[in-house]
Amino acid sequence: MSKVLRKPAEFRQACEDARAVRRRVGLVPTMGALHHGHFSLIDEAKSRADFIALTLFVNPLQFAPGEDLKRYPRTFESDLAGCRERGVDVVFAPEPGAMYSPEFQTEVSVKGISEPLEGGFRPSHFDGVTTVVTKLFNLAGPCVAMFGRKDYQQWKVLARMALDLDMPIEVVGCPIIREADGLALSSRNRYLSASDRKRALGIVSGLRRAFDAWEQGEREPDALRSLAEEPVRGAFDRLDYVAAVDPETLAAPSPSPCRILIAVAAHLGTTRLIDNVVLGEDTCP
Ligand code: PAF
Repeated sequence: MSKVLRKPAEFRQACEDARAVRRRVGLVPTMGALHHGHFSLIDEAKSRADFIALTLFVNPLQFAPGEDLKRYPRTFESDLAGCRERGVDVVFAPEPGAMYSPEFQTEVSVKGISEPLEGGFRPSHFDGVTTVVTKLFNLAGPCVAMFGRKDYQQWKVLARMALDLDMPIEVVGCPIIREADGLALSSRNRYLSASDRKRALGIVSGLRRAFDAWEQGEREPDALRSLAEEPVRGAFDRLDYVAAVDPETLAAPSPSPCRILIAVAAHLGTTRLIDNVVLGEDTCP
């Protein structure tokens, strides 16, 4: 039976009590609207920890004015049912005011790796993510925290933050979970109309083209990037980026790389989707 806590102090206490009886705390931070991608994070956390804390918090700090903060799906009752079914020990679902007092004036910011890709299009986004995740880490004191690799850059930014700030937390990136036709699961997929849902597969086609070319020996980053870009450009209304970068630094890859991250962000109407594949590591998207 997952316990629901609303106050940061109660959440801190629950995690402290678990640690006091030598339970390893595993943290699954989410913004709710849970789907099988999130459930895979819970399962992975259960394999690495024995007290599972999941957070449901639509963090206003990571949305810029004009982004989808107001319409972000909020599905508390079904989220809770999902957590209960999967044996989450504690669900922390604070109100924004409990996380950010009117006097709040601190920001946690990771430089370099936050700046390309998403950072170029959502300049304040990662500062909001790193600030809230630092607060959640401080409250929960987990030994391991789980993030989905659909938000690949977010995972790398948070791993960098934990290393740089000596946070004794393993930041785990879990594989992307996809629908049968390849579309990556995302809370934002529910915004898509039936026809946009079909067009969204342009991203999958792009990633698969790059994947197939890589399997056939193509190693030239720009060739792989252009192969991925064409179907996305054809299906989507607007492209933010299709990039071929080094999976560790997110900078330009070396001339003959052994792994390349192909990352995509594109818009269908008012919905922005992101996806990626690590060539040389992931299976076919
Ligand atoms: O990936 C998300 O859902 C959010 O960015 C996170 C990590 C829960 C921080 O609000």
